[in-house]
Amino acid sequence: MATFSSFNFDQWRDQARLALSQDLGPETVHWNDLRHSKDMDLFQSSDTQEYNIRSKQFHLNRQFIGTLSRLSSYRDPQRWNFLYRLLWRYLHEGAEFLDDPLDGDVRQMHRWSKELGRDSHKCKAFLRFRKQPEGFYQARYASKHYVLKGLVEYFSTRFAAMDFEIITPWESLRWFAGKAQYTESGEVFDAIDSDDFDDLWLTYYRNTYNPARLNMKATLAEMPKYLWKNMPETELIPEMIATSDQQVDAMLEAAPKFQLDTSSLNSLTDVSRAVSECRACLLCDGFGNAVPGRGQKDAAIMIVGEQPGDHEEKAGKPFVGPSGKLLAKILREESLGEESIYLTNTVKHFRHRKEGARRIHMRPSQTSIHACRAFLIAEIQIVRPQVILCLGITSSRALRGVYAQLNDAEEILDFGFGEVKVISGPHPAAIMRAAGAKREQLLFDLKQRIREAVSYPGTNDEAPSGLLFPD
Ligand code: URA
Repeated sequence: MATFSSFNFDQWRDQARLALSQDLGPETVHWNDLRHSKDMDLFQSSDTQEYNIRSKQFHLNRQFIGTLSRLSSYRDPQRWNFLYRLLWRYLHEGAEFLDDPLDGDVRQMHRWSKELGRDSHKCKAFLRFRKQPEGFYQARYASKHYVLKGLVEYFSTRFAAMDFEIITPWESLRWFAGKAQYTESGEVFDAIDSDDFDDLWLTYYRNTYNPARLNMKATLAEMPKYLWKNMPETELIPEMIATSDQQVDAMLEAAPKFQLDTSSLNSLTDVSRAVSECRACLLCDGFGNAVPGRGQKDAAIMIVGEQPGDHEEKAGKPFVGPSGKLLAKILREESLGEESIYLTNTVKHFRHRKEGARRIHMRPSQTSIHACRAFLIAEIQIVRPQVILCLGITSSRALRGVYAQLNDAEEILDFGFGEVKVISGPHPAAIMRAAGAKREQLLFDLKQRIREAVSYPGTNDEAPSGLLFPD
C-alpha cells in the first residue's frame, strides 16, 4: 500500500498525478489528511519520493477538476481517498458513472456537495463583524468545512470599503487596504464579547423580530446552535421565546380591528351574497369566486376547514376536491352522512400563487382570517350546530384563539345561542400529505374526533330525522 499525505488540493493533485502515472488503483493507495490530523510529521514520513518519476499526461475536463476541488473543502479525514477514487473511476470508466444516481460514490459526492452549499450559504448569511479597537472589523465564524476559500471573492467585493478579517476554526481571510490574504489556518474560539456594533444589531433584530411567527424548529434548522456563538442576536432568543406569547397578545390588542357588519345576515343565502360582495381583504379581488358553506341549514354538526382550494373555487362549493373526497369517505366510514352536516371554511377565497397554469395553495393571511371570521360566526349563529369540528389549525385558531393546538381537549363555547362543543382535528389535506405510520395516526385521530362529535348528547337524536345516520 502506497501512502501519500496532502494538506491541500494542490498537493493532492500533484500526488494524484504521480499515483496515476504508476497505475496505482484506489485500493492500493492511502492518503493521510494532514490538515485534518494536523500531524505534520506524517508529511515527512510519506513515501511520495518513491514516485518521483516521468510525468504522464491526463486529460480531465475542467468542470470535473472544479468539482474535485470544491469537494476537497469537505472536512473529512477520508476526503483525499474519496477524491482519488472518483478520479480513478472517471479516467477508467468514463464520465458516465457520474450519471448513475444509485452509485455509492456519486451519492456521496452529491451529499458532500449539498452540505458544502449549506455551509457556505450559512457563512454568508450568519457571519457578523465586530469593530476592533484598532479600527478594522473582525468576524469569527464556526464553519463546519473549509468553505472560506471559496468565498474570498464574495466577501472582498461585498465589504471592499472596509478593512476586515474573517476567522474560522480552519481558515482566515484578511482584507486590508484593498488586498486579500487568505490563509489555510484559523483559530478555535469561544463566545465573543459584545461591542457597540452588537448593540446596534441587537436593536435591529429585536425590532424586526415577529413573535407571532416564532417557530423554533425552523429557527434551529436554519440557524443551528453551533452557529449561535458567532451571532450576538442569538442571546435574545431565550428571552424572545419566553415573552413571545405576551408580545403576540399585545400585537393582537394593538392591531387595527376591522369588523364586517354582519347584523343583517339572517339566512345562509344572506351570508352567501355578502361573502360574494365582500371587499374586506386583498383576496376579494383577483382570487376568483368566494365560496360559501354548504349542507344542512340546521345541521347538528358543523365542519370547518381552512379555505377553498382550486376545485372548490371552480365549483363554488367547499370540500369537493381531493381533500373533500377523502373527508366524505371518512365520514361515510364513520356512518356520518355528508348530507347531515354543514361544511364551510374559515376563509371564503382561495389564496394561491400561480406557477404557469397551476394555482398553488398558500395559507390565508391573518387579515383574511380576521375579516372572514365574521361570516363564519354568522353561519354558526344561523345554523346553530351543537358541535363544531375544526379541521386543521386555521379554523381551530379562528374559533378557539391564537394558541389553539390540534390536540387540545374539546371545549364548550358560547356563540350567543347556547353551548357549542368545539373539537379540533387534523385536516384531510394533512392526512393526504403524510405517509406511513404518521398518516395512519392522523387518520385515526380524525376518525376519533368525528366519533366524539357524533357522541355528543343531542347530535344523534336531535338532528333532523333521517339525516344523521341515514341507515
Ligand atoms: N380544504 C379546505 O380547508 N377546504 C376546502 O373546501 C377544501 C380544501
